[in-house]
Amino acid sequence: MIAQLEAEILAAIEAANDPAALEAVRVAALGKSGSISELLKSLGKMSPEERREQGPQINGLRDRVAGLIAEKKAALEAAELDAKLASERVDLTLPPPPRRRGSVHPTMQVMDEMIAVFAEMGFSVAEGPDIETDFNNFTALNFPEKHPAREMHDTFFLQEDAKGERKVLRTHTSPVQVRVMRATNEQLPAWIANGQEPPIRVIVPGRTFRKDSDQTHTPMFHQIEGLVIDKGIHMGHLKWTLETFIAKFFETDAVETRFRPHHFPFTEPSAEMDVRCDRSGGEVKIGQGSDWLEILGCGMVHPNVLRNCGLDPDVWQGFAFGAGVDRLGVLKYGMPDLRDMFASDVRWLEHYGFSAFAAPNPATGLS
Ligand code: PHE
Repeated sequence: MIAQLEAEILAAIEAANDPAALEAVRVAALGKSGSISELLKSLGKMSPEERREQGPQINGLRDRVAGLIAEKKAALEAAELDAKLASERVDLTLPPPPRRRGSVHPTMQVMDEMIAVFAEMGFSVAEGPDIETDFNNFTALNFPEKHPAREMHDTFFLQEDAKGERKVLRTHTSPVQVRVMRATNEQLPAWIANGQEPPIRVIVPGRTFRKDSDQTHTPMFHQIEGLVIDKGIHMGHLKWTLETFIAKFFETDAVETRFRPHHFPFTEPSAEMDVRCDRSGGEVKIGQGSDWLEILGCGMVHPNVLRNCGLDPDVWQGFAFGAGVDRLGVLKYGMPDLRDMFASDVRWLEHYGFSAFAAPNPATGLS
């Protein structure tokens, strides 16, 4: 009878393949009213002889069954852990999912590079607003009142305000010349806002606007203005400054420039500076070929502008220039179409954008 019970229990232990089933087997055999527990209870009712014979057998059965259940329990738990480890394993050698990184827009990169070059030459940075008064954008810069020259820039005019004033989206960064000399912009650092006695040496990077769009023009673009006012300033200083700038910016002396006589109301004499380039391959390459790309206007500050800004032209002279930032970027980094600069095509930006952690500018050591 004991042998048969043992065989049944062993078969049940064998068949239990998860901890819950095994626990059911344990309760059925060793629980309060389990089969073995009942047998143990029956020992009390036996005669001493019977008990002496049956006792060790029943106790032996209980010990073997308890031992086998404990063994099986350990085996089932180990198997469960193995299965869990296998299914939850993390493969640390898998490549991470691709992460999109932002990049510095070429225009901002080029501006930083230009600022670094001019900073090394002792220029500081001034800024002005995109929406400008007619006075700063035109009148103070010696554009005659009601003169077609005001239309020359394809100006975006704003609607007249309550005071009858018609502001403009600034057509160039030159109005900041006026702001610096007249010191009217409270946003400028105190040393400028309080009125700066010359010498003045500033550059003005910023956005500018004109109704214009083709391969080399966009309605919004960027300029960097330069203004130097001191005693005894002449065209030689202007030419040296610009040629030094171009060489450092393009990181080569091989760039060829030419100055063409030109007219701006606010400079006299005036010139436009071109760089030699090659447009034949669909891409603009500098320092070679037979094309010229106009990159900046410049000249000696007109005496009327000095007067309009409270400076005596018999004491102070100066030069100014305004360069197209985007255009210079297109030239330096070989982009086929200026309009792509502002098309906000992420693929274009990923290709032409710059790392935010760029190495220092080799020309200046600044980053
Ligand atoms: N403001 C001129 C332009 O936008 C450039 C310029 C700046 C010319 C300073 C002379 C002096 O075309």
